[in-house]
Amino acid sequence: MINNINTITLLFISCILCDNIFNTSIGTEEITYASSKGIQDFSQILKEKFVTNNSETTAASASSGTEVDIDELRENIRDIGYYLRSHKFNEYDRRYETNSTTAERIYFKTFPRPPLRSLHWEVHKYCESSFMECVNYLAKKLRGVAARRTDDTSIVMMKQHWKWKTNTAQIEQVDEECKKNKKLDDHIADPFEGPLERYQWRVTASYFMCWYTMKKTPELKRFHEKCDNFANCLDYNYGPYNDDARVDDLFDFRCICHWGYIWDEDSRECLSSMALSALKLKRKEKTKIEMMKLTLWEKIKNIIFWRKGSSSN
Ligand SMILES: *[C@@H]1O[C@H](CO)[C@@H](O)[C@H](O)[C@H]1NC(C)=O
Ligand SMILES: *[C@@H]1O[C@H](CO)[C@@H](O)[C@H](O)[C@H]1NC(C)=O
Ligand SMILES: *[C@@H]1O[C@H](CO)[C@@H](O)[C@H](O)[C@H]1NC(C)=O
Repeated sequence: MINNINTITLLFISCILCDNIFNTSIGTEEITYASSKGIQDFSQILKEKFVTNNSETTAASASSGTEVDIDELRENIRDIGYYLRSHKFNEYDRRYETNSTTAERIYFKTFPRPPLRSLHWEVHKYCESSFMECVNYLAKKLRGVAARRTDDTSIVMMKQHWKWKTNTAQIEQVDEECKKNKKLDDHIADPFEGPLERYQWRVTASYFMCWYTMKKTPELKRFHEKCDNFANCLDYNYGPYNDDARVDDLFDFRCICHWGYIWDEDSRECLSSMALSALKLKRKEKTKIEMMKLTLWEKIKNIIFWRKGSSSN
């Protein structure tokens, strides 16, 4: 697990992607580790940008005197987080997999292997130059996608403080729309040239956002919103929150552990979280098929029932 985390602030990671790449503090070891895992693109980035330049740059200040609207910046970061999170949990290898039903979804565990042959040029261009340009570019691009964070059932439920029982009809309506958009997004992938370009775009964006996180970019320290959902409309196993303890962003270093683990200050180790163990993901797989047949209300009852049963730890 990850030790000596003082050097890293990784909130973004819980919500994004690089959980499992770095296992100790940043240094040549990580690069070796990354390389040994075949993460050449990423280690290359780190080699060039991080290791040779270990000074902590305040990314916002790199945007040469332009006023930064902090609310807009946070909103942008959350939007990017959402779309990359969706990649993390729901995407499969578009380069090799032909059947989306059977394709493995493993990007919550690892960056793609083999790594990209080349970075997405546009992401590379903007994200290379500065954090602010990177965020502005990514967020602007995401304004054209069909599956928007603000339309996601989980997000809407959270923002509107909807309750299962009193808002069932609204939840159902929003979720139907959400799933429709998700499907469009999945197949057509506007404004990208298609799912394959989107794949390259999101992997590259993940590398850079991960890298900026590793650099302790202050803007990424906190998310200012719960983000423990799979960015995939309403999840019928979890509801709008998957209880990932790492989303509590009062603690800077929560997110440094793998999925299913939380940082323990006392032992300074990542400990398995009972509430969050891999069992949950297993459960997700197992129930997916059975759940398809149920009505929304039955699914919702399932969530309530399950949450009651599991809330004791
Ligand atoms: C962390 O890295 C060490 C080598 O530096 C390795 O032996 C260990 O298995 C790694 N741990 C994890 C959880 O990847
Ligand atoms: C280190 O970062 C500073 C500020 O971003 C930059 O001006 C400089 O060129 C970087 N140095 C290297 C070796 O990358
Ligand atoms: C994908 O796999 C599923 C399950 O094995 C199968 O039913 C389906 O026909 C396959 N789809 C394509 C397009 O091959």
